[in-house]
Amino acid sequence: MDFSATKIFRSLFGRDPLMVVRAPGRMNLLGEHTDYNGGWCLPAAIQHSVYLGLVPSAETSVWSIDQGNSWIPGQRKDRPSWAIYFEGAMAFLRERGMTWPAFRLAFGGDLPVGAGLSSSSAITCGLVSLLDHYASWEFSAEQCAALAVEAERRAGVAGGMMDQLCIFHACRDMAMLLDCTTVSYSYLPAVIPGHGWLIADTRVRHHLPDSDYNKRSLACREIFYRALELFPGIPSLSVLDEGQIQELYAILTPPHSEYARYVFEENARVLEMAGALGEGEALKAGTLLLAGHEGLRRQFGVSCPEADFLVNHARRSELALGARIMGAGFGGCTLHLINSRDMDAYSRGITNAFKNRFGWEPHVFEAVPSDGIQRVQ
Ligand code: GLA
Repeated sequence: MDFSATKIFRSLFGRDPLMVVRAPGRMNLLGEHTDYNGGWCLPAAIQHSVYLGLVPSAETSVWSIDQGNSWIPGQRKDRPSWAIYFEGAMAFLRERGMTWPAFRLAFGGDLPVGAGLSSSSAITCGLVSLLDHYASWEFSAEQCAALAVEAERRAGVAGGMMDQLCIFHACRDMAMLLDCTTVSYSYLPAVIPGHGWLIADTRVRHHLPDSDYNKRSLACREIFYRALELFPGIPSLSVLDEGQIQELYAILTPPHSEYARYVFEENARVLEMAGALGEGEALKAGTLLLAGHEGLRRQFGVSCPEADFLVNHARRSELALGARIMGAGFGGCTLHLINSRDMDAYSRGITNAFKNRFGWEPHVFEAVPSDGIQRVQ
């Protein structure tokens, strides 16, 4: 979608923005809820993005182009839900000693909000990047990503680092095989030749700061503390081997044991998926997606009926190789691996089936692995 950011900013500001940043959303091919466990994941940026532009101003204010509302720092009454990300990020940056001149900022785009496509991180990363340009801090992409990770935690999301690293470091056509213990990554082809990634958004929305996302993240922290009792000095849950993880299960409550098992198995699946992508093995990739969904649904408990319906549709359809719920869960999007020639037929079929079952249409589109954050003006 062509988002004519400058035109919209101009109508809002009455002049051209001084600078505009495009912060993309992300898909994740596999490796969900592994990042805050120091595990593996496989994100790629997508073409859908948030654009943030600013002009200098006597007083700071932030405007949502899509929602048609605004927020002034310090304003509590009628605070729009998106303001929490700006507020958290600015508070965090100030605590770190960073300063900047006042501005009027507007943001908007075609990235669905609360859909598991990382809209909150796109806002936070976009703000950090924009302020880096505006205040001439001249941080590296690594530094900006690290600041954005902390800034989003300050906004109340007990999250990992996958989204922010992907948004700052993604490359067109590539996925990032990301190791969240060592915070290192390598690139590999995001697309299997002859196939494409289709996203089907349930349109069921979550708001991470008050969803069960934080509960899962905190549960995993407790599990990690139990693991430390057995294996002092380990940097994360994800470094445990098969024997160690069996020992750990024995001292955990049944639900925590299931969470730990999920993380262990999901990490192994990501590495298999990286192999499948490298070798162009679509059937194997599809099987891994379905297994990942089962883990998220049964062991980790973060799916929802609408996403299960879409994944079951893929499981039964001859046109799909596999699918799974993607992102934090509790609604949002599902990711489907489809033979390129079947994209249109599959999109139509899944849209109709979902509409017949739930009464509304899912948002279905092909996800194109895209570049990371860019200054576009
Ligand atoms: C959200 C978080 C990420 C990650 C995913 C689940 O997108 O922001 O850090 O935990 O959920 O994989």
